[in-house]
Amino acid sequence: MITTVEIFPSERQKLFDRLTVRLETAYNLSRKIVSFQANKEEPIYRWFKYKEGFSSALVKYFLTEYSTKPGKILDPFAGVGTTLFAGQELGWQSYGIEILPIGAFVMQTRQALNVIDIEKLKTITKKFWADLSILKDYNTHINHISITKDAFPVETEEYLNKYLSYSSGIKDKYIETILKFAAFTVLEEISYTRKDGQYLRWDYRSKRDLSGKPFDKGKILTFEEAIKSKLNQIIQDLSPSQTTSLFEQFENRNIEKQTVNIIEGSCLEELRKFESDFFDLIITSPPYCNRYDYTRTYALELVFLGYDNDQVRNLRQSMLSCTVENKEKIEYLRQLYASIRQNGTFEKIVEVYNGSNAMTEVNAILAELNKLEKLNNSNIARMVKNYFLELCFVIYEMARITKSGGYCIMVNDNVRYGGEEIPVDLILSEFAENFGFNINKIFVLPKGKGNSSQQMGNYGRTEVRKCVYLWQKR
Ligand SMILES: C[S@@+](CC[C@H](N)C(=O)[O-])C[C@H]1O[C@@H](n2cnc3c(N)ncnc32)[C@H](O)[C@@H]1O
Repeated sequence: MITTVEIFPSERQKLFDRLTVRLETAYNLSRKIVSFQANKEEPIYRWFKYKEGFSSALVKYFLTEYSTKPGKILDPFAGVGTTLFAGQELGWQSYGIEILPIGAFVMQTRQALNVIDIEKLKTITKKFWADLSILKDYNTHINHISITKDAFPVETEEYLNKYLSYSSGIKDKYIETILKFAAFTVLEEISYTRKDGQYLRWDYRSKRDLSGKPFDKGKILTFEEAIKSKLNQIIQDLSPSQTTSLFEQFENRNIEKQTVNIIEGSCLEELRKFESDFFDLIITSPPYCNRYDYTRTYALELVFLGYDNDQVRNLRQSMLSCTVENKEKIEYLRQLYASIRQNGTFEKIVEVYNGSNAMTEVNAILAELNKLEKLNNSNIARMVKNYFLELCFVIYEMARITKSGGYCIMVNDNVRYGGEEIPVDLILSEFAENFGFNINKIFVLPKGKGNSSQQMGNYGRTEVRKCVYLWQKR
């Protein structure tokens, strides 16, 4: 029998040895800058914390460091649009693809902010509370799905429904969007749940039958408390005295704002539709290969936006594979490429995937660990295999649509399963090289003590790397 020790570190080590000159600890890229936390001074991010996002500061840093003038920028995993709006501020024409309706909703709200009449919003909200307290009939109801049922106290849900019903009758569509957005941002606070990556954690006070140690999420705000405080925050942030400081970056008068183009869909389908050599720059961060389930974490927000059980399930399956529930998409991808008579391209991409020895090694070791029941879920091996396969298609397309000399900047974390490090940075960079990118740098984020270059060379013994890859189209 093959033991993991005999075969496994070798191909990954070889790849590491070959690309090690590209790894560079980036002391100017703190975790804070890379994560959403650096955004908290910017209005939209103060109102809705999309923790999976990166920061505007990171995007602006790369846009100014790696280009001399604005052009066209893309984020194929756009999230709430950090790349797109940071690009717009600096005069870039921005394009984003995002599969979660949450991202599209937040991005539409950002666009509404550009044209909203703040005085009108103030007047409407003042009248609002009085009208709402006497409103008896309402026709809007959140339609729960199995994983969100009983998430709110009864009176909270009733007030929320009333609020939504009333705000949907407001004539000014931009104000309606902001009011709806305000409710959207408080869903977690007013519920018995807490976002927890792979699922929602439920508070002991909910009606659900819960097993395990009781969880107390602390104070659960009433809808009235939460929405009033949120709307006050929004109004305050949008008021002229605040906008000078908070919106300073939006107010750069020398820069002509270009359009932000939002495409709601899967980048596996949408990227193929762009012509070759179209973009000057791509700045993106795909889901990490870490079992994080966006459709469960954001289940409340999805039902709020009208998604039913089937739609949530379909969404989960259409997203880039990063949960143990994701099924293979290979046949779907084969048909997708066949439908545009690109069977050869499909084969070429699969060949690059199969040609990666490090990838083959990772798949083999995970299959072996699975057999030995050393992985805590038997679908981890499938998830990892498909995560890389799908990203191989994305990287092919990103290389095709980037202009020669243009950059692709990708933020991603390595992962470890069954004690085995999976060098996501190296394997994806190897795919990228095969499709026409040079690997200029793999910036490694500094972390506490364990980050000296000797330790980085000590393969597999360190904390997993969190990186920003810098690829340049040949
Ligand atoms: C790490 S987040 C990116 C966050 C973004 N950088 C920001 O600052 O908001 C990854 C995003 O990819 C999206 N996503 C997952 N699968 C996708 C697919 N097939 N096509 C497009 N977007 C997808 C997820 O919904 C998620 O918003």
